Amino acid sequence: MKLCIIGTGYVGLVTGTCFADLGNEVVCVDNNLNKIENLKKGIIPIYEPGLEELVKKNYKNGKLKFSINLKDSVIKSDIIFICVGTPTKKNSNATDLSQIYSVSKKIRNYITSKFKIIVTKSTVPVTTGDEIEKIFLKKKSKKFFSVVSNPEFLREGEAIRDFVYPDRIVIGTSNARSNKILKNLYSPLISKGAKYINTTRRASELIKYASNAFLATKITFINEIANLCEKSNINVEDISIGMGLDKRIGSRFLRAGPAYGGSCFPKDTKAIVTTANKFKTNLSLVKSVIKSNQKRSLLLLNKVNAILKGKVKNKNICFLGVTFKANTDDMRDSSTLVMIPTLSKKGAIINYYDPTGEKNHFKKIKNVTFSKNVKSALHNSDLVIIHTEWNDFKSINFKSLIKKKNFIIYDMRNIYSPSKMKKAKIKYFGVGR
Ligand code: UGA
Repeated sequence: MKLCIIGTGYVGLVTGTCFADLGNEVVCVDNNLNKIENLKKGIIPIYEPGLEELVKKNYKNGKLKFSINLKDSVIKSDIIFICVGTPTKKNSNATDLSQIYSVSKKIRNYITSKFKIIVTKSTVPVTTGDEIEKIFLKKKSKKFFSVVSNPEFLREGEAIRDFVYPDRIVIGTSNARSNKILKNLYSPLISKGAKYINTTRRASELIKYASNAFLATKITFINEIANLCEKSNINVEDISIGMGLDKRIGSRFLRAGPAYGGSCFPKDTKAIVTTANKFKTNLSLVKSVIKSNQKRSLLLLNKVNAILKGKVKNKNICFLGVTFKANTDDMRDSSTLVMIPTLSKKGAIINYYDPTGEKNHFKKIKNVTFSKNVKSALHNSDLVIIHTEWNDFKSINFKSLIKKKNFIIYDMRNIYSPSKMKKAKIKYFGVGR
């Protein structure tokens, strides 16, 4: 099939590349010429394991193209995927849909007498599909197009696997023709076991938000249970295992840690509350999840303070990993954006190492230095904070790398075993244990 992907950000680039790899003819369009030129050279703007190889392979064999020409790309395609950003509006919790609507107006101009399916892949609030349809109907007849919701459920760092082996594919449309075409497009994944669901467009839009809000709730739940565990001398990892074995609960997304972050959960929890307000409903549970998560970084900072017995000033603190999770270079809503500046204000001397390199966010913050490797980051540490669970941090010989004798480890991802640390006579703290 001939596909046009609009927006070569995280969602668009992964989606377009994976569809090309399934044998479709894909053109990825972006209005950023530099980005398009780089993609043609195989320079990928994001860090996503396996993506670069797949882009190069499919660009070389001609299945994947990059262009800034929206008109040509839309005219030549059967299905158009809108994958532009839907950030939170400044000074409000509502979603900024300006890119979605501006792209829709442009696509509308290029709809001819050949039927086209317009798909929203970006996460968009309930009724956005209705609004896009209204935009099209102002100038085009209903028989030439159909607006469908098909949310993405990709996780950063695991996106290619999530695309190829999705738990489910959700198609929101009441148009039988579009449903048939999209089911056919996804048939290689359905034949590998992915469940295909056809529902209404509004339901599909809400499935995405409800899923993310539920996962954020699950994480926040275990984080709060971790707080209780710390006070009652229980290891939260035992609770996660014991709860997770109940099939009704499931073990995934039940790992306690720092505040959840990234470009999705913080944004989508706020957006679903705004949608509920619009429909005069109160999502009080999601509201408390948001609050609890916002307080979490301060809670963990209080623990840092307690670990250092209130003496943060002039202490050498090393952060291992600063991104919101492993296998990504994404800093959006990472809890280190709160923790590092706060500790710096309190007079700490901070060294950090991240496998994805130095971050601009910390360049202007006093006494914060990027180290090029784990060894030099650790060398002079009084306290090591393991913030992100990269594999690189899973088998470090701390004693041989840290010159100070009484160094302390605060393992925010519970990577290491407390009993082994005790045996090695290393002062060790985890989360919820
Ligand atoms: C999330 C969803 O998992 C995807 O299904 C969805 O497609 C995506 O948002 C999106 O809406 O685009 P992502 O934000 O990439 O994916 O990352 P996750 O792996 O879900 O992690 C989110 C946050 O939760 C991270 O800060 C992570 O450290 C935290 N987390 C996750 C925990 O603290 N504990 C867990 O057990 C799992």
